[in-house]
Amino acid sequence: MIGLMQRASHFLDAGDRYEPSEPLAGKIIANLFMENSTRTRCSFTIATKRLGGDCVDLLGSTSSASKGETLVDTALNLEAMGVSGIVVRCTPENGAKEIASRVGVPVINAGSGATAHPTQALLDALTLTRYFGTDNLSGQHIAIVGDIAHSRVARSNVIGLTKLGAKVTLVGPPELLPDDLDCETSSDFDAVLAEVSACMMLRVQFERDAKVGEDYRDGFGLTDSRFANFGGAVMHPGPINRGLEIDDSVANIESSAHNLILSQVTSGVATRMAILEHLIG
Ligand code: CP
Repeated sequence: MIGLMQRASHFLDAGDRYEPSEPLAGKIIANLFMENSTRTRCSFTIATKRLGGDCVDLLGSTSSASKGETLVDTALNLEAMGVSGIVVRCTPENGAKEIASRVGVPVINAGSGATAHPTQALLDALTLTRYFGTDNLSGQHIAIVGDIAHSRVARSNVIGLTKLGAKVTLVGPPELLPDDLDCETSSDFDAVLAEVSACMMLRVQFERDAKVGEDYRDGFGLTDSRFANFGGAVMHPGPINRGLEIDDSVANIESSAHNLILSQVTSGVATRMAILEHLIG
């Protein structure tokens, strides 16, 4: 984890001055996205191209999955066409793992069900360590707030942030707070906000049937007034329900130097470059 973060940090520091050695030259990576995505898919594409490789995109809505083809069969067909790696986003919790057990090329989990989004956790960890100017997150207390029940981002971040030494508190209404995660939980956002150095707001996932009351913003939104009293980092993996989990004005990057939301997106390209270089380059 640390090695990938250091390499990603190197890519971030190099920025436009990065002179590609093109470790992916001549290689084609398949982006197999059975669920919609903006950040993850585009950043894997950009990362691949910056490393000298090329991509083929297969989206659930236009693939032969709509005719009943299974996820594994889809991946086997991509492998038969000669791709060097498969980046997969899918709804089944073990989808990426199943593909990995059947194909002979590297498989990267770009988000599976409500269970795991490991590359997001890695880019979040990178964003936070760069914000704090440290190699790890020892001594930091981080809140993950909102629809924890449906969040693969929360699950992967609990693992990643804890591994780096942070204390993590999950915050949300009781019905959106699962009890199977190994960390503290709370439904008192104001009390937790007073203690943490970073606050990761999560989207309410209506497409996964999340239900929230009309008072959700009052209880769990990062509102203007809460933000005014908070001096820590603000994060959101996106996409954002503006005006619900985070106020419009707080979400805007110009609201504060502590707003890391677009830094997370920038870190995403560098992190995925490090992952692709490591596995396929
Ligand atoms: N953070 C994230 O996974 O965003 P996308 O769904 O747009 O990829």
